[in-house]
Amino acid sequence: MDTLEITEQAVRSMNTKMINDWKNWLLVYKFALDEVNTKLEILNEEFQFIHNYNPIEHMKSRLKSPESIISKLRRKQLDVTMENAREHIRDIAGIRIICSFTTDIYKIIDLLSRQSDVQVLKVKDYIQNPKPNGYRSAHMIILIPVFLTDRVEQVPVEIQIRTVAMDFWASLEHKIYYKFESEVPQSITDQLKDSAELIDLLDKRMLAINEEVSEYKQEEKEPSPFRF
Ligand code: GTP
Ligand code: MG
Repeated sequence: MDTLEITEQAVRSMNTKMINDWKNWLLVYKFALDEVNTKLEILNEEFQFIHNYNPIEHMKSRLKSPESIISKLRRKQLDVTMENAREHIRDIAGIRIICSFTTDIYKIIDLLSRQSDVQVLKVKDYIQNPKPNGYRSAHMIILIPVFLTDRVEQVPVEIQIRTVAMDFWASLEHKIYYKFESEVPQSITDQLKDSAELIDLLDKRMLAINEEVSEYKQEEKEPSPFRF
């Protein structure tokens, strides 16, 4: 009985040590998040200054926990090592950017891609090509250099960019999937897909309204030919 307890304790303490090592290793991903967040804040602020308009409504970043990195490695049937995590898990550092309009999404992708220290590894456009369930968003994986005391590391960051409306759909869909332990009933997935189409229509309408408003603003700026 005693031996068993000791063994269990040993396993527990090994896990705690392991989790601590992982937390230490994760620091570099936190630095990468800090850097990309600053880049995005600068872009948004400067854009606001020049155009009196901000393409980013709000954003949120998160670090994947060691526990979920480990379970993702297991799901992918890979050994639980930091090397495998570095190589095969690209969303350890993640940022979600919420915009008003789809045009803002492409603006952000373009502005980030043109920065000389940003290396774009992958862009997945689920707006042009929605997932079969109706999911829409643009995903990017970038590499960002992090300067440490003794080396420079190129760290991957996953960036998801979507409109407020797409985010509304995605968060609800995510919650629904968590509610059902087994498969989601067909009638629910059909309704979700229909709602995704409605949301797409709504995004297009809002963009059209915004463009019309911009034209009014432009007219106001142009001097009237009757004015001296
Ligand atoms: P992982 O799911 O992270 O292993 O990556 P993947 O290679 O399948 O990449 P993908 O770019 O398709 O998805 C990455 C992330 O986008 C997911 O972790 C979710 O946060 C989000 N996502 C993708 N598909 C859906 C979806 O159908 N519904 C919702 N709500 N979110 C999704
Ligand atoms: Mg993910």
